[in-house]
Amino acid sequence: MIISTKTKLVGLLGYPLGHSMSPVMHNAAFENLSLDKIYIPIEVLPENLETVVKGMTKMNFEGFNVTIPHKIEIMKYLDETDEYARCIGAVNTVKIKDGKLKGYNTDGIGFLRSYEESTKDKIEGKNVFIIGCGGASRAVSMTLALNKANKIYICNRTHDKALNLAEDIKRQTKIRCEAVLYDHEEVIKALQDTDVLINTTSVGMSPNIEESPLDKRLLDKRLTVCDIVYNPRKTRLLKDAEEKGCRIVEGLAMLVYQGAEAFEIWTDVKAPSDIMFEVLKDF
Ligand code: ATR
Repeated sequence: MIISTKTKLVGLLGYPLGHSMSPVMHNAAFENLSLDKIYIPIEVLPENLETVVKGMTKMNFEGFNVTIPHKIEIMKYLDETDEYARCIGAVNTVKIKDGKLKGYNTDGIGFLRSYEESTKDKIEGKNVFIIGCGGASRAVSMTLALNKANKIYICNRTHDKALNLAEDIKRQTKIRCEAVLYDHEEVIKALQDTDVLINTTSVGMSPNIEESPLDKRLLDKRLTVCDIVYNPRKTRLLKDAEEKGCRIVEGLAMLVYQGAEAFEIWTDVKAPSDIMFEVLKDF
């Protein structure tokens, strides 16, 4: 590709960035649609975030992704924040237009799209059981509540955090939400009332690929089981679920669709999600 002064830039701000999959995914998508844009990872220390962001508004940047540790801090420097990101309390995508910055959070909507595309089903009216209480859980649970899930159970190793998140969801969305004690018979009761189970913890991620956040005996074939872990693509939880006859949704789909949502925010063009999947499969 030829890079010129007309080439538009999209950044990824974080520290440290390690081996993020986003540059590969977005650059493949830009190339596929012959868009004169490039996606560049930029390591930014917390104390430099404001200066870097201000500088980006004076350059060819059309937007950027934000990752650890800046997802909350970035909100101070934005001119506007959309409703989802406000409710979640974190931003992972920023669009720059006429020098103004607008923040979004595509993690939850990326999960929702991955669920709906993979299952050809709607989340509306479903009872959802979410394991974990970190940033990913917040984005997913808040988005599902805003998209009319019927009821949400939050189950976390540290119960106080589950209580806090459940309160926050109820306050912001008026959806029924309950904290469930981890490793307790409350889990069995809640699962009997669940349609969709989602792991948002890192349990099962490489190299601990034989670990699962839930005992296989608790899985029932009525459940749709989703994991946001994408390395390995099929986690222990998903393998167990498949063996029990459950419908499953892999974490790679969430990674692709949160990227596709961000791509569409920056470009106003439908993202080639099939290309984005393809390039990550070989990565
Ligand atoms: P992220 O922002 O990526 O979601 P995070 O904020 O570090 O990540 O959150 C990780 C979540 O996984 C937390 O809910 C954590 O539980 P605690 O709140 O008790 O720490 C959960 N988690 C991580 N390792 C776990 C394990 N081995 N067993 C159970 N839960 C675990």
